[in-house]
Amino acid sequence: MSVFNKPKVTLVGAGPGDPDLLTIKGAKALASADVILYDALANKELLDYAPKRAKKIFVGKRKGIHTCSQDDINEMLVANAFEHGHVVRLKGGDPFIFGRGSEEIVFIESYGIDTELVPGISSSMAVPAYQGISLTQRKVSESFWVLTGTTSQKKLSADIEIAAKSSATVVILMGMGKLHQIVRLFQDQNKGEVPVAIIQNGTTDNERIGVGVVDTIEEIVNDNQLSNPAIIVIGEVVRHSHKLKSIYEEMKNSNQSSPSLLLEIHDME
Ligand SMILES: C[S@@+](CC[C@H](N)C(=O)[O-])C[C@H]1O[C@@H](n2cnc3c(N)ncnc32)[C@H](O)[C@@H]1O
Repeated sequence: MSVFNKPKVTLVGAGPGDPDLLTIKGAKALASADVILYDALANKELLDYAPKRAKKIFVGKRKGIHTCSQDDINEMLVANAFEHGHVVRLKGGDPFIFGRGSEEIVFIESYGIDTELVPGISSSMAVPAYQGISLTQRKVSESFWVLTGTTSQKKLSADIEIAAKSSATVVILMGMGKLHQIVRLFQDQNKGEVPVAIIQNGTTDNERIGVGVVDTIEEIVNDNQLSNPAIIVIGEVVRHSHKLKSIYEEMKNSNQSSPSLLLEIHDME
């Protein structure tokens, strides 16, 4: 531990993937780190902001399997803070949006270690934004919901049924494994024609997007092998995106919901 660094843990939101979406405060925290614990969704390029001497520990998922449990991570945060001083916990998006950031803070503080939270740009807003999707839009959508598709019990969140009944834009994280059930809930509300965009690896060079409507989105996902990490955006605002508008206009002009048109995948320029 450097002489001046007393034990401290800073939780830093790494943003959604594009490394330029880190905040200045996040970059400053990284620059003063002795140790960094980082997740799979945090862009590794961000480690360049840290001193070369800083210890960098990967604690994310590899091939879908957690390399460390949450308990392991909590213990490592505390142990490294006592041993080395300033620990930065770099987490994808924002640490408080489905990021378990608050749990980590409670655990760390229980050891008398100071914590600080640097909010990050959440994928729930930035990923749709990069595709021109405005989650609220005058005369189109007055609100948006951000939900998890999968609860801590691995079940579909009951809130999705309520969201499907609302007129809000619905943004679902961690929902790919439950897409069929999600589609059914919207169909039950006669929303089969509502536009849907599924964006995988948003804001990165590997970004892929499938667009369609509730009734066709499963076919689009299957045919194009869209998978995690992905965000599901359901609502009329998708049709109004300046980037996606032409697809929906073409669909309307051809007067059919032709799968061949809907199967189009928009690779990033
Ligand atoms: C455990 S949650 C973490 C969310 C994060 N704290 C945030 O604010 O963005 C992980 C889920 O976020 C979504 N996600 C995160 N980054 C993404 C990205 N770049 N593109 C698409 N989805 C993303 C996916 O649904 C993924 O399964």
